[in-house]
Amino acid sequence: MKTRIFIWVLIGAGLILGYTNLFYAAGAGRSLKVPQEYKTIQDAIDAANSGDTILVASGIYKENIQLADGVLLQGAGADVTTIDGGGEGSVVEGAKGSVIEGFTITHSGKVGRSGDYMDVGISAKYSPMTIANCRIVGNNAGIRTYFSPSNIVNNVIAGNKAYGIYILYSDSQAKNNLIYNNGGYGIYNSYSDPEIVNNTITDNMEGIYSFVSQVVVKNNIIAGNKNAGIHWVETPDNQQGVEPLLSYNLVWGNKRDYVNVAPGNGDISEDPGFLSMGKLDARLQESSPAIDKGDEDGNYNDPDGSRGDIGAYGGPLAQKALLASPEEVSYASLEILYAAVKDPGRYLAQSWGVRAKTGKVLFSGKCAPCHGPQGKGDGPYSLSEGVKPRDLSMGALLSMRTDEFLFGVIKNGGAFAGLSEVMPPSGKSMSEEEINNVVQYIRSEICKCQHVKESGDTEQ
Ligand code: HEC
Repeated sequence: MKTRIFIWVLIGAGLILGYTNLFYAAGAGRSLKVPQEYKTIQDAIDAANSGDTILVASGIYKENIQLADGVLLQGAGADVTTIDGGGEGSVVEGAKGSVIEGFTITHSGKVGRSGDYMDVGISAKYSPMTIANCRIVGNNAGIRTYFSPSNIVNNVIAGNKAYGIYILYSDSQAKNNLIYNNGGYGIYNSYSDPEIVNNTITDNMEGIYSFVSQVVVKNNIIAGNKNAGIHWVETPDNQQGVEPLLSYNLVWGNKRDYVNVAPGNGDISEDPGFLSMGKLDARLQESSPAIDKGDEDGNYNDPDGSRGDIGAYGGPLAQKALLASPEEVSYASLEILYAAVKDPGRYLAQSWGVRAKTGKVLFSGKCAPCHGPQGKGDGPYSLSEGVKPRDLSMGALLSMRTDEFLFGVIKNGGAFAGLSEVMPPSGKSMSEEEINNVVQYIRSEICKCQHVKESGDTEQ
């Protein structure tokens, strides 16, 4: 019991002092592994106690998650670990003092346009929590905090049909998020006094919208939103005495930059100079006017100690760049991101597929769910199917197989070669060139072996 109380104190402190402390708190208990020890994420959560950490290996998990109080749910990274809500309900329901970190969260249901019943990617409802290092894309809305002051740090929130972040009755903290091309408001605040610091909010319907809320808006880039950049609703009766607190923002290129609110101290209005928004790269060019223009207070300095830059890549928690080169992407999630960003509304109606070309991307997206990221036969679906996926890293086996055999099994499925039909055919979803890419990838990176001719030959 004592440990639990201690953890709760730590978690409380974490919520006040920032999310780094929370990681220590939540890491104080056991580690539970998905899929090695628990087949599904939910199985692991159901077995976890407050203070435990659940480590989720890379893969696509088709689940709707209900977190548990004080549990840290940690994915192998948003570029390799995806929770897909399958188009039903919210993808993740939060819990008090819980942390979710390192996932792509996508494909919520489509119900609702506001309030606590709206389907969202991550929902914190009466559950203050931390959401960090996630990509929340292609949902009805991204994140909702409802009576739940939460930390929302270092996420990419893009291509959601309605809001990026929806804050209702919650003094939440949103820091260093890239909030891009959401169909509604980037951040919506109602009856809440949140802090919105060092975010980049661009190409949404509106940037920040506020209703009866005393919002701190500091060090943000709010640019290129289709209607207002910052929009304070004037409702004289109940908004009385509720002043926005703006400072050191770059507000530029919105249809109207400020509506019912005046620029704050240190606010500037110039083209932020993104490296390449077309490639989802919202880092700043060297000549950007946002560099070294954040609040002079040392608490807002960049990680290198210099005066903070404005936007998601500035300040002490500076956002890590989105993978700069798509070739480096090991998994489908950047594809999901691109698809979601291109068309937020329509995206929800489609089921997504992997359309990348390299063997690495194809293998991670189509094969790793069963064969595992290293091909060892330990992917998240390996436990649910009847026949165990082959360990493709076994050089002894794979060196007996010709490339034609592997090509045939992948194209036509296991049954074609006298193996189990659990191994599915991919001939319809991959071109011959792509299947060859996968075969070569297995040769060079998984088994690290070539076909060795009859045992009489002396090639070895
Ligand atoms: C639904 C799970 C599943 C998926 C997805 C899957 N596999 Fe398999 N695979 C299996 C199973 C199970 C076997 C073993 C069949 C047997 O032992 O009869 C297998 C066998 C194989 C073999 C035969 C190995 C040998 O020589 O005996 C190859 C090669 C292979 N898979 C490659 C792939 C590739 C490449 C992909 C992705 C394009 C893929 N698999 C996707 C389940 C899967």
